[in-house]
Amino acid sequence: MNSLVVYYSKTGVCKTVAENVSSILSCNTIELQDNMNFKGIIGFMKSGHYSIKKKLVSIKPISVNLSEYDNILIISPIWAGYMTPTVRSFITQYKADINNADIIFTSAAGNNEKAFIDFKEYFNEANYIEFTKKNVQNNNYLTDLNRFLENNKVN
Ligand SMILES: Cc1cc2nc3c(=O)[nH]c(=O)nc-3n(C[C@H](O)[C@H](O)[C@H](O)COP(=O)(O)O)c2cc1C
Repeated sequence: MNSLVVYYSKTGVCKTVAENVSSILSCNTIELQDNMNFKGIIGFMKSGHYSIKKKLVSIKPISVNLSEYDNILIISPIWAGYMTPTVRSFITQYKADINNADIIFTSAAGNNEKAFIDFKEYFNEANYIEFTKKNVQNNNYLTDLNRFLENNKVN
């Protein structure tokens, strides 16, 4: 299956997961970029507000034809219980070009099922898995990641 990884990462956790998925599947990755300043305490509060209110942001255009891929593996941090505004903006903008998408979340605490329910509003066939930041940083998630990729035949 022809897969592509599309991710957003503010502090590097999702970037690490994206690099591992890319290496396991031998596929390309695209890092999403936005025009927002989510830094500092004000940025943190804005991040949560944008996320919970499902607000959209301006993102840098994607230079590849997404419709050429069988599956897009989207990787997002959880912010205030949901996918980040940058990832939501990507989905909203490019959904019509995407054949199939699955989602990998990283978060501090885990158990963010409502973020998956929300994701399925866009892609109702989607599979999902969530890893905690701690498990990613300890490399204590690779068995689960491999199983997820294998079970969902995204490779
Ligand atoms: C603004 C903001 C809100 C967050 N909200 C949550 C949350 O609701 N639940 C949770 O478990 N983790 C939450 N986190 C933690 C991140 O999801 C977690 O650290 C993630 O792995 C960061 O990914 P990144 O390093 O790729 O940016 C939040 C982090 C930020 C910056």
